[in-house]
Amino acid sequence: MPKIKIAPSILSADFSKINEEIKEVEKLSDLIHVDIMDGIFVPPTTVDANFVKSIKTKVPLDVHLMVHEPSDSYIRGFIDAGAYSITIHEEACKNPLNQINFIKKNKVKAAISIKPKTPLENIKKYLDIVDMVLIMTVEPGWSGQKFIDSTMQKIQELRKLKPKLDIEVDGGINPYTARVAYDAGANVFVAGSYIFGKKDRSKVIKELLSSLK
Ligand code: DX5
Ligand code: ZN
Repeated sequence: MPKIKIAPSILSADFSKINEEIKEVEKLSDLIHVDIMDGIFVPPTTVDANFVKSIKTKVPLDVHLMVHEPSDSYIRGFIDAGAYSITIHEEACKNPLNQINFIKKNKVKAAISIKPKTPLENIKKYLDIVDMVLIMTVEPGWSGQKFIDSTMQKIQELRKLKPKLDIEVDGGINPYTARVAYDAGANVFVAGSYIFGKKDRSKVIKELLSSLK
């Protein structure tokens, strides 16, 4: 099993003081998860590459593109903004290989994600190329939703196929659901409202970590 990584999702943070918010979680975070929504693939819209560029942190930025058919130039914006990894959605791209290859060509980690109802089968052909797979544990678009247990079957199957691959979960993660996902085989844990919804962020991240022991 690869290393456990904690990735606070800033979707639930206060954007008006984003760098202060990130400072509070930096020490205990392996990645900072940044959700990009286009109003097409998912109804809401969020921040853009300029916002990502304004983030000042040494923690690698994990950019989750909930975006319909992101073009090379669109992706380039996030690469130039300092993304460490970029995740695209299988459902959002006609041929996800185009985006995966472009991301990798630019020496950024490439990941592919599937929504709760999308079968693992749809991404099996990319498993040898990507650096990470994101199994959504809620419908993408909003923070604060309830973790969907049935997504765990995909994680179990994926972990059997790829013992060393980073498998990320995103949506409804708290110490209890993180443990469920960890037992299924996930090792990268995104948490938004669970972390930024609380006052003492270090305390809640520590709680998350101790549930994985
Ligand atoms: C939802 C986003 C998540 C979101 C998770 O579409 O991809 O990253 O911020 O929020 P919580 O942890 O509150 O479910
Ligand atoms: Zn996300």
